[in-house]
Amino acid sequence: MKLVIVDDYDALSRAGADWLIEAIQEQPEAAIVAATGNTPTGMYIELAQYRSRGLVDTSRLRVFQLDAYLGLPPDDHRALFSWTRRSFIEPLGIAEENVVRLAGDAPDPWEACRYYEATVHEVGGFDLSILGLGPNGHLGFNEPPSPPDASTRVVDLTPESIVSNGRYWGGEEQVPRQALTCGMDLLLKARRTLLLVSGTHKHQIVHRAVEGPQTPDVPASFLQSAINVTVLVDWAAWRGQ
Ligand code: PGA
Repeated sequence: MKLVIVDDYDALSRAGADWLIEAIQEQPEAAIVAATGNTPTGMYIELAQYRSRGLVDTSRLRVFQLDAYLGLPPDDHRALFSWTRRSFIEPLGIAEENVVRLAGDAPDPWEACRYYEATVHEVGGFDLSILGLGPNGHLGFNEPPSPPDASTRVVDLTPESIVSNGRYWGGEEQVPRQALTCGMDLLLKARRTLLLVSGTHKHQIVHRAVEGPQTPDVPASFLQSAINVTVLVDWAAWRGQ
């Protein structure tokens, strides 16, 4: 695990975009799982600006949705797929046929999880994984406790995630109580991972994730044993002030 500490959120977004551009230039057709959330937003904007200046071709990436609320159609404004579409797929010029959705609105969500897993296996696993860190140590919606072999599945959200996600949608009551998440097993096998962490509120959890014991109670701690992981943290998160 490589730890990189940067000054602030802007620096994190720029460093993240540089990391991604290098990875995409090496492998323009990479299979990438891309997180939503506030943390990667600035990095995606940077990346889109590089693309619009013709400095990187992102259009051939194959994009996999990381997580989805259960029961929301993809065009619901809260659906994480519509967030991925707004922040990543459209600004980066990625064709719909190169996007794999985790279908939270499927009649049989468990079947949707199996279909997603089969599709990831078909492409040979993730080349790139872009992750944020939940306030409870989750990756995607792999809520604690999640062991390293946890599969893609339907989960109950923890109260901490419901509060945290309430920031996006104007209150906790707007947040569905269940979700589908790409499993730990797939995420931990990604060939390259970038974990982004920003803000004082992530101080304790980032130290537990990076330095603490590897435990299902902090799912992100299992990244310590994964290959090619870069953790990009700003000083606010690292110092807690
Ligand atoms: P955030 O979310 O980037 O909005 O802090 C991270 C997460 O909950 O995984």
